[in-house]
Amino acid sequence: MENILLESVETARTSVVSNACQRPSVVTARPLLRVVLCTLSLTGALACHHRVSLEELPPDQIETTLFLIGDAGEPDPRDVGSPLDSLKAQASVAPDRTMIVFLGDNVYPGGIPEEGAAEWADARRRLEAQVKAIPPGVRGIFLPGNHDWADETAFGLYSIRLQERMIASLAQGRNVRMLPGNGCPGPVSVDVGRLRFVGIDTQWWLHGFIVRDSSSHCPESTMASVTEALREQVRPPGQGRVVFVGGHHPLMTGGLHGGYCGATGPFRRFGGRSQDIISSANRTMRDSIRAAFAGHPPLVAVGGHDHTLQVLRGGLNLDYILVSGAGSASKTECAVRLRESYYVSQHRAGFMRVDIMKGKGVLLRVFHYPAGPTGSLTFSRWLEVR
Ligand SMILES: [Fe+2]
Ligand SMILES: [Zn+2]
Repeated sequence: MENILLESVETARTSVVSNACQRPSVVTARPLLRVVLCTLSLTGALACHHRVSLEELPPDQIETTLFLIGDAGEPDPRDVGSPLDSLKAQASVAPDRTMIVFLGDNVYPGGIPEEGAAEWADARRRLEAQVKAIPPGVRGIFLPGNHDWADETAFGLYSIRLQERMIASLAQGRNVRMLPGNGCPGPVSVDVGRLRFVGIDTQWWLHGFIVRDSSSHCPESTMASVTEALREQVRPPGQGRVVFVGGHHPLMTGGLHGGYCGATGPFRRFGGRSQDIISSANRTMRDSIRAAFAGHPPLVAVGGHDHTLQVLRGGLNLDYILVSGAGSASKTECAVRLRESYYVSQHRAGFMRVDIMKGKGVLLRVFHYPAGPTGSLTFSRWLEVR
């Protein structure tokens, strides 16, 4: 209950700042009165709880729509259900301007095994549910996560390549693929209009077994060269560019891997596990990524890994951090609000939608399931003011 209230207060405060806290039908209300009403709502009334609905944004003014969903590799074997079904329905509205990014842990628990292994058919089933959720004509990108690297084991590099090939065969010639490819770390950039999406494989960075072999041929193959390439790629040419950097491991989180909640949380805060924020391997990676952003902060760094939905202030060299790892209804987890949090949704499945408007404006919307009393749209915010 406390969390729900805090969420509402935060949304109300955000609305005051963006001066958009009234429904369009009453936008003629005097601004001062509006601010007073909104301020009063901070005491607990929810009169100022405005979210930009799907109908409110004129479709002809949207340049690109980007969906962000992570850790979706455990759909119910009987029924895919939300959120994949809902995402598919939204994405099929305007396929030619839509891109879906799967943020890793696409196949639980151990990635794609060798063909013939008992787990092979079930691993394929998990991946197929996601590839099929991409409507025809929509561009799809799969980033690798720690589970895709054969659950952080020595088979990881081979498992990643098997997954890349399986995605390609399931895609049947459509524009759907794993990025970066061939077990390489990236970064790899995809440009769509104003958007530049830069994908990196963060598990490559953290993996404790081989990450390259004689068939790798990666453009970058050391942490230093990956960082340098990232520095160049987050500075795209042209005016009004919108830069998103995506990798499985988040740069900040109020969830399990941040050591903030759950039975194992307190122990993780002392921890040495590279998967957790506090470990030195993870910190080294995050510091390098942030250093690459210096002087040219991307709008968003997005990850999954924690099975929650979080919108956070980016901090040094970065505007926003998004955590969108709630793609599997059976795997949702706890999260707490940090000082940097604008929004937190725990114990619910869901995904994020970003609309990049023509000219100016980037709108983030968060959808969660099962839907609350006001529907599945639970949060919205203009990341770039329109
Ligand atoms: Fe995960
Ligand atoms: Zn993970």
